[in-house]
Amino acid sequence: MVKKATLLIRNASQVVTMQGPVPRLGPDLNDIGLIENGAVAVAGDEILAVGPCDEVEGKAPLAEGCTVIDVKGRVVTPGLIDPHTHPVFARTREQEFEMRTLGKSYMEIAQAGGGIRNSVRALRETPASKLKEGTVRRLDRLLGHGVTTIEAKSGYGLSTESELKMLEVIQDLNLMHAIDLVPTFLGAHEIPDEYQVKRENYIELLINEMIPAVTKDNLAEFSDIFCEEGVYTNEESRRIQQAAKDAGLKLKFHADELASTGGAGLAAEMGAVSADHIVYVSDDDIKALARSGTVAVLLPGTTFSLRGKQYAPARKLIEAGAVVSLSTDCNPGSSYTESLPFVISLAALQMRLTAAEAIAATTVNAACAIDRGGKIGQLVSGLPADIVIWDMEDYRELPYHYAVNLVSKVIKNGKVVVGK
Ligand code: NIG
Ligand code: FE
Repeated sequence: MVKKATLLIRNASQVVTMQGPVPRLGPDLNDIGLIENGAVAVAGDEILAVGPCDEVEGKAPLAEGCTVIDVKGRVVTPGLIDPHTHPVFARTREQEFEMRTLGKSYMEIAQAGGGIRNSVRALRETPASKLKEGTVRRLDRLLGHGVTTIEAKSGYGLSTESELKMLEVIQDLNLMHAIDLVPTFLGAHEIPDEYQVKRENYIELLINEMIPAVTKDNLAEFSDIFCEEGVYTNEESRRIQQAAKDAGLKLKFHADELASTGGAGLAAEMGAVSADHIVYVSDDDIKALARSGTVAVLLPGTTFSLRGKQYAPARKLIEAGAVVSLSTDCNPGSSYTESLPFVISLAALQMRLTAAEAIAATTVNAACAIDRGGKIGQLVSGLPADIVIWDMEDYRELPYHYAVNLVSKVIKNGKVVVGK
């Protein structure tokens, strides 16, 4: 039987389809599969047809009661994907933000007992119901900025009980919220207060108790670690991540964020799906990432908010043939934002990505960063109907018109969830 359209989006000045190679590499990053004067037909929760208006309207029969949205010359893109977030937390940390504006560094604040350990103390005493309330507000804001799928990390519990509490919150919210959440276990985000003088015991707890508990209940798809000077060494990271891999988790690394330690190289060597931050990645490790296909997830919002002097070497990574993606790193410490469009502006202004490259990095390549390459992040017949209608005529306005929300409507799985 011929499928009929239940939703028709017509009269788009531009449809950014992202049809084409997955992942997008090198010069192909500028190919966003643009269709002018386009339309998208949706059947139920999936894309039925994408193309010039007259073609789509000619070949997709409309179901009875089909919703027709005339976007009147606006831009249509796939739903954005945010592949690195820490959205579950108990309290914000504006006092630390102020300390940074007055000149203290992120690491100085962390070493004085603030930072991640500050969030851990608060999260442990907060019930799951309260955590859910706060997280829903952040998911609503992400969705409102055009994000339809996120990766979401634990990492503010740092005990078996509290890490499981966080992952269960993520699991529950995935079922009840329009945004899809991909769960990551980040028990190795820091060394908690009570293990500061016996860090080896915490590593054993991670390996022998926490990872098995997480995998037993299928609460995470990825394992991540803060591999950084002053947090986990490369050798510790290798041990913990090997245990996670042996337990069936895919790997991600926070690497080379504040100093060059070879974390990205370790991620590539261990076959990680992504290496994130990588501001200080070495030239050799850029080559290693390109060879392994490990996605470089760049987080310019973090550099911006930490008042960093240097942004990740996006152009070098692209030229080397690495898979480049972008993300908010939404968290209460180093990057408190739910605006992936603002991150796209920063990527353009501070890392010299074109609008096309930055959109590819937050759709098709962001899907690769969560191991869903070719499954989401493109407007292709048969894929989920995750679509954003933007209040702009030309997609290049997305980085250019910065720090305002230009989302007009968001469609998730074929349903209008924002801008009804
Ligand atoms: O990605 N770098 C480590 N983790 C987070 C910060 C988390 C926090 O400060 O609460 C990041 O920047
Ligand atoms: Fe992070």
